[in-house]
Amino acid sequence: MHYFEYRNDELYAEEVSVNELVREFDTPLYIYSAKTLRRHFRAFDSAFEGIDHLTCYSVKANSNICVLKLLSEMGSGMDIVSGGELFRTLKAGIDPQKIVYSGVGKRENEIREALISNILMFNVESRQELEKIDRIAGEMDTQARISLRINPDVDPKTHPYIATGLQKSKFGLDLEQALESYRLAGDLPHILPIGIDCHIGSQLTSVEPFLEALERIKIFHGHLQEMGLEIKYLDLGGGLGITYDQEAPPHPAEFGQAVRESLKDLDLTLILEPGRVIAGNAGILVTRVLYTKSTPSKNFLIVDAAMNDLLRPSLYGSYHHIAPVEQKNGKTLQTVDVVGPICESGDFLAQGRELPETAQDELLAIFSAGAYGFTMSSQYNSRPRPAEVLVDKDEITLARRKEIYFDLLQLEEQCY
Ligand code: LLP
Repeated sequence: MHYFEYRNDELYAEEVSVNELVREFDTPLYIYSAKTLRRHFRAFDSAFEGIDHLTCYSVKANSNICVLKLLSEMGSGMDIVSGGELFRTLKAGIDPQKIVYSGVGKRENEIREALISNILMFNVESRQELEKIDRIAGEMDTQARISLRINPDVDPKTHPYIATGLQKSKFGLDLEQALESYRLAGDLPHILPIGIDCHIGSQLTSVEPFLEALERIKIFHGHLQEMGLEIKYLDLGGGLGITYDQEAPPHPAEFGQAVRESLKDLDLTLILEPGRVIAGNAGILVTRVLYTKSTPSKNFLIVDAAMNDLLRPSLYGSYHHIAPVEQKNGKTLQTVDVVGPICESGDFLAQGRELPETAQDELLAIFSAGAYGFTMSSQYNSRPRPAEVLVDKDEITLARRKEIYFDLLQLEEQCY
């Protein structure tokens, strides 16, 4: 569901014409819809109404500070994975008591910064990390609230690169190791174990793997109670999928109901870390066709966006719906590869796609680009990154200006 719609065959972001935005901000251009972000947050958060919970939006999905502020105004907390994300969330004015810090490789300075900020808790992924946090908290004469991330060994049935809860994955601790680490955590003077954490993967399209993980967590929670630990939080991570193409993931309400049902006998505050389901369909990437070219084997649309702007198709073979910004009747369909200017054959946004015949200079919208779009962008091939614009009804905010050539060099000043 989103608020990018055609009016008289012209694509609009809420009340604003995409053509108009392109005239002002050029292409490639990320456009986000505030109304869609709000709607998605509300749909997700309200699915857990009636039980103690905190929705901590996963910053990595879309970390633009305007997006963080908007979600924070709706009551969202934040799930962060780096000192950089902590910096962003604090700059966005997020209450540190609504910040959870996940991630398998936290640096010493990052741990220190999070302790100084007094975040709600660290989701700890190894014994060494636990010991490091204890040492640093000791040096700072404080106590760190933690959860241990358990790896329940559940198959999330998603792309292997974004499956995280299988035994072979680098994430979390298996149940046995986790139990040992909780025992240690209970003894460490500067560690306060207050939660259990788990995140099994991303772009899940059914509730079953979540429920399977919850069953294991519930048994595990029983062991922690026997150990005498006072666990207050259960962090179930993120992972609820969205529709890019034909997928039919459960609606957040269905997901919420299943999770609530599974947890009904537990007196724990639930933490959720949704990213994609909030931001994914709230953004599009607009690109202009630079050239069309037909070879003996293929038709190409060579566009001005590339894998550096939207990496998902190249990295995961992901599908993103693509449609012309201006629809014209009576156009024949053509099978094309939509490719960028980068010097790699892996630089494509779509392959073998049926699109209405598209001419040079026409604009295309790449949908579902609001999550893991801009955040995974780079300057590869020395391509300045595109602008990000947030539309709220008819209000336009330049959420990040387009980079200029100077931005490519500004950290290399010593060399020129
Ligand atoms: N919590 C943790 C600990 C995570 O690692 C992630 C995502 C999330 C929450 C949010 O998951 P979501 O609700 O967005 O599924 N770049 C990939 C996705 C990587 C996800 C990494 N972790 C993509 O473009 O599909």
